[in-house]
Amino acid sequence: MKVSPSILAAPLTELGSALRQLDPGVISFIHLDIMDGHFVPALTFGEAVSAAVKKETNIPLDVHLMVSHPHIEVPKYFPLKPHNITFHYEATSLPVRLAESIREQGILSGLALNPGTPVEVIEELYPFFDLLLIMTVEPGFYGQPFLPTSWARIERLVKMRERLSKTYNHHMLFEVDGGVNEQNCKRLRELGIDMVVAGSFVFKSEDPNERARILTGND
Ligand code: DX5
Ligand code: ZN
Repeated sequence: MKVSPSILAAPLTELGSALRQLDPGVISFIHLDIMDGHFVPALTFGEAVSAAVKKETNIPLDVHLMVSHPHIEVPKYFPLKPHNITFHYEATSLPVRLAESIREQGILSGLALNPGTPVEVIEELYPFFDLLLIMTVEPGFYGQPFLPTSWARIERLVKMRERLSKTYNHHMLFEVDGGVNEQNCKRLRELGIDMVVAGSFVFKSEDPNERARILTGND
């Protein structure tokens, strides 16, 4: 299982040195939590800080847009050439067109689902997205506990993916975001989750690389 630490939980005034300490051998992605103060109450950072992050690291970027107008915000991240750009299902009525515009850039298209959104929406959207970001907390802050209702949702999604991947001959990556730690990571690996985001578990520690290694399950 690959780990994508969220820099939201990193020491933001020392972000450069925090990024340079990350070991690309255990940390596969850098998760960028972009919040607009509207889709969620918090306001974090945007494309300028994201571009500065890119200059400090060769680790691929995982862009998570928690914004109300993804059709305006998504193109701002094209020049960064991230691994994926993920926007929320709840924020747009035109997800297919937006997903196609991301893929046209050679970037993976990501769809995020809030904990209250029915998982069945992926039936119609499966072939258009390369990645599903399964929120296991309501977006807005790092450091929230993993919602226990997430397990049933993830199990249903795993079953749906088994079937839909055959129908469309396409494997959608599953990424879990919110409250991931050493207690729940084993079960997430067993369920076949491809990537996990971790904010506080990785950065609120003395040794972020060691914390990330625990999540990967590799000794
Ligand atoms: C929540 C963000 C998450 C968060 C993860 O709105 O999307 O990525 O920063 O932080 P932890 O792992 O502390 O829940
Ligand atoms: Zn996130």
